[in-house]
Amino acid sequence: MHFLNARKCSRFCGIHRHRPSARKNFKNHPQFFCSRGMEISEKMPFLAEYWPFIITVLVCVLAAIVLFKTALDTPSDESLPPEPDLLDELDDLEGLDDENEAPAEDEDEGPALPSDLKHVPLQFERRTPLESLTRSQEFLDLMSTRRTVRSFSSDPVSPEIIRNIIKTAGTAPSGAHTEPWTYVVVTDMEMKVKIREIVEHEERINYERRMGDQWVTDLKPLKTFWEKEYLSVAPYLILVFKQVYGFKENGRKKTHYYNEMSVAIASGILLTAIHNAGLVSLTSTPLNCGPAIRVLLGRPKNEKLTLLLPVGYPAPDATVPDLTRKPLEDILVEI
Ligand SMILES: Cc1cc2nc3c(=O)[nH]c(=O)nc-3n(C[C@H](O)[C@H](O)[C@H](O)COP(=O)(O)O)c2cc1C
Repeated sequence: MHFLNARKCSRFCGIHRHRPSARKNFKNHPQFFCSRGMEISEKMPFLAEYWPFIITVLVCVLAAIVLFKTALDTPSDESLPPEPDLLDELDDLEGLDDENEAPAEDEDEGPALPSDLKHVPLQFERRTPLESLTRSQEFLDLMSTRRTVRSFSSDPVSPEIIRNIIKTAGTAPSGAHTEPWTYVVVTDMEMKVKIREIVEHEERINYERRMGDQWVTDLKPLKTFWEKEYLSVAPYLILVFKQVYGFKENGRKKTHYYNEMSVAIASGILLTAIHNAGLVSLTSTPLNCGPAIRVLLGRPKNEKLTLLLPVGYPAPDATVPDLTRKPLEDILVEI
């Protein structure tokens, strides 16, 4: 009532028309507020006119803030089975995602590469058109047999092969030659089991809560589930980290341009090298496991887990879904 003008007040409270005796105790009476309301309506006509609308908007904004905070604070895993010890230790890692810590720009203006960088002749062997055609066809045939494998043999693989594979991934192009990647290769069984614990814990929540019915339905034909036996069976786990920023020789932060794209390209080459070496892998992007695994592996905060690849030989009875590839005309536009 405070902000009503006299006309509106009498319309709303009716006190002037129906209960004149009540005016006696003026200060306790709504009329007091009406006269105050008239003052206010003269001083603040906008407020007097639109106060119901303003109050409604304020209430809605407050309600939205309260709802949003409640949603953020709600724990997501109270009905799940007790977590392993390791997960207890790593529970405090939420929010350690590194993405936002990348600097917008270098902290100093010195070049990341020497300004007088030497240029050398390109090593390039020009193939005949026929040679190129044959090589392109052979490579296509080779890559057409690459498949994602979900059950592994524990047969050992020479570490030399894995090192060559990582070196091959390291030949990838990168934004301003920043090479924003780190490959962690795990063979230690204890460590593999710990990684498996983290991944299965998160995957169980993903499948049961986070992913939604459509996503779970889409994955069913591929026979993927929250249990990840291969993480402790495959002889190698390769964990691909992207460095969201790096460091210059003077210790200052260095911008890693297009680090996401650079690491994605390098990962494609990594998968190709694994296949070329006669080994198999499973491309996985463990949802919500990044910070815990990063800390477990002792990696710095500028690194973010992007891929987790078990690598080895397939189990003798391994099967793969019978998928087909899109035909060329569906993926190629020639102009
Ligand atoms: C970014 C990315 C994430 C993937 N994540 C998973 C995963 O978590 N679990 C899984 O079983 N397969 C995963 N895959 C494998 C795909 O399901 C697989 O590549 C696709 O079904 C095609 O099969 P193919 O690789 O045998 O051609 C992933 C693939 C990519 C590229």
